[in-house]
Amino acid sequence: MRTNKRALWVGAGALAVVLAAAGSTATAPAPAPVPEKAGELAPVRSANAIDRRVDDDAQAMIEQGRAAFRHSTFRSQTFFGGALRLHEAVAELSPRQALAAGLKVDADAVPPEVLATADLDDPATTAALLRLNAVVGVRGFFGADPSAHRGLTSLGITCAFCHSTVDDAMAPGIGQRLDGWPNRDLDVGAILALSPDLRPLADRLRVDVPTVRTVLMSWGPGRFDASLPLDGKAFRPDGKTAAVLIPAAYGLAGVNLHTYTGWGSVPYWNALVANLEMNGKGTFFDPRLDDAGRFPLAAANGLGHKRDARDAVTDKLADLHFYQLALRAPAPPAGSFDAAAAARGAQVFNGKAACATCHVPPLYTDPGHNLHTPEEIGIDAFQAERSPTRQYRTTPLAGAWSRSKGGYYHDGRFATLGAVVDHYDRHRDLGLSPAEKADLVEFLKSL
Ligand code: HEC
Ligand code: HEC
Repeated sequence: MRTNKRALWVGAGALAVVLAAAGSTATAPAPAPVPEKAGELAPVRSANAIDRRVDDDAQAMIEQGRAAFRHSTFRSQTFFGGALRLHEAVAELSPRQALAAGLKVDADAVPPEVLATADLDDPATTAALLRLNAVVGVRGFFGADPSAHRGLTSLGITCAFCHSTVDDAMAPGIGQRLDGWPNRDLDVGAILALSPDLRPLADRLRVDVPTVRTVLMSWGPGRFDASLPLDGKAFRPDGKTAAVLIPAAYGLAGVNLHTYTGWGSVPYWNALVANLEMNGKGTFFDPRLDDAGRFPLAAANGLGHKRDARDAVTDKLADLHFYQLALRAPAPPAGSFDAAAAARGAQVFNGKAACATCHVPPLYTDPGHNLHTPEEIGIDAFQAERSPTRQYRTTPLAGAWSRSKGGYYHDGRFATLGAVVDHYDRHRDLGLSPAEKADLVEFLKSL
């Protein structure tokens, strides 16, 4: 021990000599400036076996996470098939009807000759597509007997159901998968309402079946209400649906809190969704849901303390998290905005309009605790009050161009980016000229 300690001191002394020499030698070359911007840092490529192990692990997690995101039902078929018998209705749906409800077809999963000759008016084609695992976000389970429900014995959903769409390369609704893009065509409520037996859902919501049906049919395309099974609130005070727009699941890396109202981190929310929204089998813990005043259904149904015998969720959370962080927001298509106006708009965004006080570039959300009160952004508190935080999360703005369908803000209350800018101009007394507003919109389209 003694000798080791001495050796350490001798080493430190030698280092001090080297440092002193470096500081005092007039002929030493000037040190390279320390890069300040992320893009100025030279990437550190894997140099040895230790580094390569990290690279390989990262790649494996992305691939496992992609599989979980696209294909894992988390055993939600016990609910959608087993309880609601949704597969019986889907077996009678033609592809054309399925596409009209916003469902998407993964063209990569279907042999081209099959796709070319498929009869889109025949429900048998839907079953064939499900057998190929080609209906984005929907997994069919098939038994030995093909006569009943075209062989479908059950059906579950995956994250891709709501958070993926396709690029329409073959036809509207048929193309390559775009993971992370919100499916703003998908009518979740209308699809669920097809279920032959809505009683299990009605029981969980503690209402009757006609009420459940009315609520599901009130959502409309691109919307879902993740808070409904927690607080039972289906309508806002103004009578409109309480369902929110399906958000993007891309561009989330570096962002602290997630969901419109900042319920928690990505892995927090993934666990909540897989367990409580998709009705998968797993484990979920959140004692905030024991608050019977705010979350009467969650408290009554013990949702903050879920422990299923078989856990099909927890072992996927790490990979799922990793995959979502790897999904970048899509860049705007060439020519979709006026670059000169966008450059002027950036000045307005960072300067006069003070948007960047909350939407801090390049994350375009607040680094840190990224929540704000309803008053700060000038909207009502209804949705914020449905969350433990009672606040709204600063939406990361990258890719905003790709989610214009359904409008902006959590409930789509602003139909266009121009309407969002007008709102801030009024609420925050920005005094923007029409030209500044137009430039700001071009900037938002460029992100
Ligand atoms: C039935 C539709 C639906 C399904 C299925 C679904 N989500 Fe979501 N997701 C939503 C909606 C709606 C929200 C917004 C919730 C809110 O803020 O109230 C959301 C929010 C999110 C967010 C937060 C995004 C942000 O901007 O912070 C993430 C992350 C997410 N979902 C991931 C997933 C994952 C992973 C799965 C699969 C385990 C999944 N979702 C399944 C509809 C869905
Ligand atoms: C006080 C913080 C704050 C400031 C300042 C602010 N925002 Fe926001 N912004 C938010 C929050 C919080 C939301 C989420 C609102 C919701 O979903 O209901 C949001 C949402 C948005 C959205 C909608 C994104 C989407 O996908 O729905 C846009 C666009 C936007 N802001 C642009 C701007 C612009 C432009 C400015 C400057 C004029 C600005 N924001 C100033 C906090 C802020």
